[in-house]
Amino acid sequence: MSTHRFIEIARDGHVATVTINRPDKLNALDADVLRELDETFATLESAGETRAAVLTGAGKAFVAGADIKAMGEMPPAAAKRFSEQGQRLCTRIETLSFPVIAAVNGFALGGGLELALACDFIYAADTAKVGLPEVTLAVIPGFGGTQRLVRRVGIGMARELVYTGRMVAADEALRLGLANVVVPLAELVARAQATATHIAQHGPLAVASAKRVMLHGADASLGDACELESHAFSALFGSADQKRGMAAFLSKSKAHFTGS
Ligand code: COA
Repeated sequence: MSTHRFIEIARDGHVATVTINRPDKLNALDADVLRELDETFATLESAGETRAAVLTGAGKAFVAGADIKAMGEMPPAAAKRFSEQGQRLCTRIETLSFPVIAAVNGFALGGGLELALACDFIYAADTAKVGLPEVTLAVIPGFGGTQRLVRRVGIGMARELVYTGRMVAADEALRLGLANVVVPLAELVARAQATATHIAQHGPLAVASAKRVMLHGADASLGDACELESHAFSALFGSADQKRGMAAFLSKSKAHFTGS
């Protein structure tokens, strides 16, 4: 991972902070940045140490979008491959075994908002500006944004944001349910890391299970989703952590979970 040009990783216990570091281009996503992000999250997952992560951007942007220079002359077949590469990354983040908090420190436009929407939830700086401006370039979002935005804010608001391409400031992002919280920029990453640290103290199998059930349940009927929940709930009773957690409560002590 240390060979990556555009990605920095900091670890603190079970929490990883991933920073996209291409500030001179406002962290725009070209194929190399997408590949490095994908490799980073794949490595964090396979190493098995990470229980929660924070994703943020260096400089004044989270990510100002897919790289317009790289896309300018793309023929349709290359655009399809680029879209699929971005979608694969977003799906990887969405289906990781640990939560990822997007700490949106500034512009999160186009592919930047799509990336943030693939994270489990968004903490926004008071300086954040988010939107899907692709139609202003005569294209549409291609990394899953048309679909995830509908699921996050509802179809009417998603249509308005996609058709107008307008930028939404942090307070409106909060009202729309796009951001969970708005904090001063200087405190943003620390606040997201504090929440990640809090999550990382809990049973990692349980957190992973909750993530999976809420993701897959959201696209299922309520009956199927509740069945999914019941299966996942009962499966956790086969884990040592469940015994540890409940025994610790009953003996008024603190459980230390191992993920087994
Ligand atoms: N792709 C490629 N390069 C980008 C980029 C993108 N999505 N967004 C910003 N950049 C580059 C700029 O070209 C500029 O590079 P340069 O210094 O070599 O000219 C650099 O990042 C700084 O951006 P700049 O536009 O000068 O900053 P600004 O503060 O004046 O404006 C924005 C900030 C975000 C409003 C503006 O950069 C912007 O509109 N970006 C594109 C947003 C977009 O449409 N995203 C969706 C893409 S599908």
